[in-house]
Amino acid sequence: MADARLIIASNRLPFTVVDSNGRLELKASAGGLVTGLSAYLDSLQHSAFTNLVEYVWLGWPGASIDDEHKDGIKEVAATRFNAYPVFVQEETMEAFYHGFCNKTIWPLFHYFPSYVVYESESWESYREVNQYFCDAIMEVLRPSDILWIHDYHLMLLPRMIRQSMPDVPIGFFLHIPFPSFELFRLLPKKWAAGILEGLLGADLIGFHTHDYTQYFLRSVLRILGIEANMGQMFVDGRMVQADTFPMGIDFHRFNDAVVSKETEMERERLKNTLSDFKTIISVDRLDYSKGVLNRLEGFELFLKDNPQWHKKVVLLLVIVPSRIGVDRYQTIKTQIDQMVGNINGRFGTFNWMPIIYKYGHVPFHQLVALYNMSDVALITPLRDGMNLVSKEYVASRKDATGVLILSELAGASKELVEAVLINPNDRGEIAIAIKNALEMPLEEQKSRIEKMQSRLKKYDVVKWATDFIDELKDVKEGQSRFR
Ligand code: UDP
Ligand code: G6P
Repeated sequence: MADARLIIASNRLPFTVVDSNGRLELKASAGGLVTGLSAYLDSLQHSAFTNLVEYVWLGWPGASIDDEHKDGIKEVAATRFNAYPVFVQEETMEAFYHGFCNKTIWPLFHYFPSYVVYESESWESYREVNQYFCDAIMEVLRPSDILWIHDYHLMLLPRMIRQSMPDVPIGFFLHIPFPSFELFRLLPKKWAAGILEGLLGADLIGFHTHDYTQYFLRSVLRILGIEANMGQMFVDGRMVQADTFPMGIDFHRFNDAVVSKETEMERERLKNTLSDFKTIISVDRLDYSKGVLNRLEGFELFLKDNPQWHKKVVLLLVIVPSRIGVDRYQTIKTQIDQMVGNINGRFGTFNWMPIIYKYGHVPFHQLVALYNMSDVALITPLRDGMNLVSKEYVASRKDATGVLILSELAGASKELVEAVLINPNDRGEIAIAIKNALEMPLEEQKSRIEKMQSRLKKYDVVKWATDFIDELKDVKEGQSRFR
């Protein structure tokens, strides 16, 4: 595989096309999948340790594109991002992305069964879009390539590709939790079996945590009757492996950026308004799974119980717009807006507002400045596959001070065990954790952050991807021994 190219497929590309008054513009996409993969692919350009330097990233450009603009988008995608856009019609994408992906799979896999919509038309669109991706991939894929498919939008794709090109190495990584069997079985049998069979078209299927891997294997056993030994299964005589690969971050990108001129400027600007206060940072994509309401309730309780902290602390609440075409996302946005207003109205004074709320994208250096100058990070998802923000906060603490309060229901809590771990459903626990974090002695802060930093340095995003690809190659070799 000396000259193997890496072909990446994900629904989201690193750029999103937006229509700005009739002009098409490219904006950076948000979310952990894009941050992680971009960081890894960037490293390939500069690494002496890998022969996988050539890659193509296939995905949806984020909007439906008129025929007259397709060639232009294709060209920019190729030259600026090594990307190959998969064009999908608006109505199909609506039922696929806003439908099956984000009204069925996302809520179910994040343990919100009452939010799940079961619609056979959106399942059909899911199959249709996976087939579009398959057709697009077949336009670029060569037998000597390695194909790495990402996330819950494309779970049928591994099998489709396997049928068209049986010997190509196919890896699949799920960036969100895989739910317990009791949740997964809520899907109509045909869909559940279809998804598992789709995934088993891959040679290697990766998850962020050991639990997600086990839940997947359990569902495979209960629904398809296929047994696994140490994560290894035989599917139509072909060996398939499921395994755990916790995704890391580009530690040095964050750690080094702390001392850059751009971050310094951002920090100075922020300090002008915030220097009199201790600050707590919270950054999330708009999502009900992120537990923002619980967090706000916990903060409100903290303020109620601790009047000595009034006028001394500010919560910086950053919400990055996401999936606003899904009604649940609009509802959570309204609820957050209201609760921020209520808390500021209840506790605020003319010279202090307890919450500074930003709804929008945050450029990289501003994000690093926010992480770096905040005494505490408060991250309380109700479920999260991994949560890279928590890792980015730790990496941005150059002097090793700061306290991370993290939900035990985020995948990252399995690695960041020195964080102050809380159950996000316990508002009282959040309130106490905030007080303890603000009052934690410096030596204890440092001892916790240093341990987490050394782990994040070692298991960074390059290690995550390299481990995955190395194991994919091993599985492929193993298969040839079993033939
Ligand atoms: N992020 C972003 N745009 C912003 C602010 C943050 O893309 O305006 C990034 C952030 O740095 C992090 C990612 O979004 O890398 C969020 O990843 P996480 O795993 O925490 O959650 P996800 O959004 O993937 O559910
Ligand atoms: C999560 C998912 C990604 C997705 C990201 C942003 O991280 O795992 O697959 O790209 O959210 O969501 P979006 O719907 O905008 O792609």
